[in-house]
Amino acid sequence: MEPEGAAPARLGSTGLDAAEVPAPGSVTLIIPTFNEAANVAELLRRLAGSLPAHLPCEVLFVDDSTDDTPAVIEKAASGCPFPVAVLHREHPEGGLGGAVVEGIRRAASDWIVVMDADLQHPPHLVPELVGAGERTGADLVVASRYLPGGSRAGLAGSYRVAVSRGATWLTKGLFPRALRGISDPMSGFFAMRRSLVTADALHPLGYKILLELAVRCRPAEVAEVPFVFQDRYAGASKSTAREGLRFLTHLAALRSASPAARMIGFGLIGLSGFVPNLAGLWLLTHAGMHYLPAEIVANQAGVLWNFVLIEAFLFRDRRHRHRADRIGRFALLANADLLLRIPLIAVFAGRLGMAVLPATALALVTTFVLRFAATEALVYLPRPPRRTPRRTAGS
Ligand code: GDD
Ligand code: MN
Repeated sequence: MEPEGAAPARLGSTGLDAAEVPAPGSVTLIIPTFNEAANVAELLRRLAGSLPAHLPCEVLFVDDSTDDTPAVIEKAASGCPFPVAVLHREHPEGGLGGAVVEGIRRAASDWIVVMDADLQHPPHLVPELVGAGERTGADLVVASRYLPGGSRAGLAGSYRVAVSRGATWLTKGLFPRALRGISDPMSGFFAMRRSLVTADALHPLGYKILLELAVRCRPAEVAEVPFVFQDRYAGASKSTAREGLRFLTHLAALRSASPAARMIGFGLIGLSGFVPNLAGLWLLTHAGMHYLPAEIVANQAGVLWNFVLIEAFLFRDRRHRHRADRIGRFALLANADLLLRIPLIAVFAGRLGMAVLPATALALVTTFVLRFAATEALVYLPRPPRRTPRRTAGS
């Protein structure tokens, strides 16, 4: 279930202009790029025109491009009034989310602003995001398309609008408390205080970084600023169906971070395993197999089904053992569960004098809890202490 914690206070939007930004802290702009050569020069030009001189800023591109984006950035950076760095990742772990996390790890400023490189996020709002945070004391300031004054003008096509809306509803429904005061949890445009996050709190696979920050770091106060999601300046969106799948597994991983929530997920997945189990049984007995060996074989279909689902949705970040080792242990536990159930029923019914039905139900619950605990401890051991690799920044 949702971990306990204070709900972020809603501070609403602010209408500051750059001149009102009070004694600002330093700002690192983190801009993830994947083949944005046609956008970065214009982006830097507009940033240079938007960032007030009294706001100490630096720009850090975290780049996974296969085109000449880094070279184009370096060329455009020479005319910029603020420092510009490019961290090019030879091994782009975690895609967009991984790039942002890498940037956060490296930023040492008071504030971090995350924005896209394709000018869908208006550069002139950067001082306003930081200003809103400074003025209200918020740790996180979200640029939202869903506040009055904001819109999704640049979201191409009704299909993408529907997907974005659906994802927002699903996410808000799953995390009602953590996302109170955040109308646009899918936004890729936000400012945060560096102190909000220790880099290790961010799972490296995190895909929707804002969502992850809100759920894991629980900012005490959140502010929002409306913005109009613009059309892409050049090039095409990098989002794919695969990204959508990543988003869903990220949601599941965040939602199942507590043991109680994981146990519920484990139970639901276990129930869904009846389907392949019964289907297998039907197939095998119709193919002429005796029902007893068919039961045993069909049970393995259910076990495999459960294994695939819990790996994808519940224990994604705890797959430390070798895959063959994991599936072996998982299958062993699942079948032991079956073997243990009969003697347990015998004990409950025979020794303790329970009726058969409650005895069976109690045995089912007992073996379920035992199997869950054993799966956690013996198949998916908790994360070992993390080493924080410190690589040197690129040019
Ligand atoms: N480093 C890195 N690695 N950057 C990436 C990668 C990657 O694998 N994939 C995309 N990017 C960069 C793009 O170059 C761009 O600057 C930014 O991330 C956003 O990518 P787009 O491809 O333009 O995404 P989008 O417009 O479909 O999605 C945006 O809007 C969504 C809300 O509708 C993003 O801001 C999403 O985070 C946001 O949820
Ligand atoms: Mn975009």
